[in-house]
Amino acid sequence: MSVQSLVLRHGKVEQRVCFAAVDAMPSEAFLNKAEAAQLGGFQFAAKRQGFLLGRLAAKRALGALLQEPDLRRIEIRSGVYGQPLVQHPQAGSAAVTVSHSHGLAVALAFPAEYPMGVDLETVSAVSARTIIGELEASAPEQAWLATASVDDATACCVLWTAREALGKALGIGLNCPLGILSLTEIRAIGEVTCGEGTWVGRYLNFPQCQCLSQANGDRVLSLAMPGEAELGAWPRLKQAKDA
Ligand SMILES: CC(C)(COP(=O)(O)OP(=O)(O)OC[C@H]1O[C@@H](n2cnc3c(N)ncnc32)[C@H](O)[C@@H]1OP(=O)(O)O)[C@@H](O)C(=O)NCCC(=O)NCCS
Repeated sequence: MSVQSLVLRHGKVEQRVCFAAVDAMPSEAFLNKAEAAQLGGFQFAAKRQGFLLGRLAAKRALGALLQEPDLRRIEIRSGVYGQPLVQHPQAGSAAVTVSHSHGLAVALAFPAEYPMGVDLETVSAVSARTIIGELEASAPEQAWLATASVDDATACCVLWTAREALGKALGIGLNCPLGILSLTEIRAIGEVTCGEGTWVGRYLNFPQCQCLSQANGDRVLSLAMPGEAELGAWPRLKQAKDA
């Protein structure tokens, strides 16, 4: 488990955002009554695991942002589109975005005036084939897929997570034609090796947003955020296993 405090800069304005990653199955003690009841309604173990890991990551990120050590005082409800909604006496405009994949959950707590979305996927050649079928890649995305110096499975995950992160930042998730969320530009930052790299991208229909994506061997993490803002550092995925 790790929690990272990051600075979000927009012109002269600086705000704190907090990123958490959780990879060990927690007990249910950090849930409040309503969340425990929601957990009790899930039939499948995988859904329960994802929910628990995701809620812990979200509450750790929010706990760090709001300086609230008692995670039961933070309530996260699911809105009608599945979006996480935060309730806490000091929450103000604090919001959170969550993703979980194969035993790892990540969350970013942020001020709601800077909408953000995260998405995490586990790289697999099998799901890459499904992804490429569903993406209906735009011309710039196809051009990038043809030239990106990473394997196809990782490249597909970069595009998929970048789109899903935007859907979450917009609060619609993937409840829309997926092409609406496509990228118009994507470029590597620094060295790209097989399965590893970092990229920044811009969206075709949402030029006010940008995405930051990083591939880390078996996982890809993307973050969608306002295009004019900057993060002081990249969220760290690797530390989840080290901490
Ligand atoms: C966004 C969506 C795709 C998330 O799917 P997922 O595979 O469970 O992916 P992740 O683990 O990355 O994210 C789950 C989290 O996203 C968040 N989320 C869900 N819908 C959201 C929305 N509309 N806006 C912002 N965040 C949302 C939730 O916090 C959720 O975790 P929780 O349910 O434990 O609170 C999904 O909820 C959605 O939009 N579904 C409708 C369309 C659909 O199913 N499409 C499938 C195409 S393959």
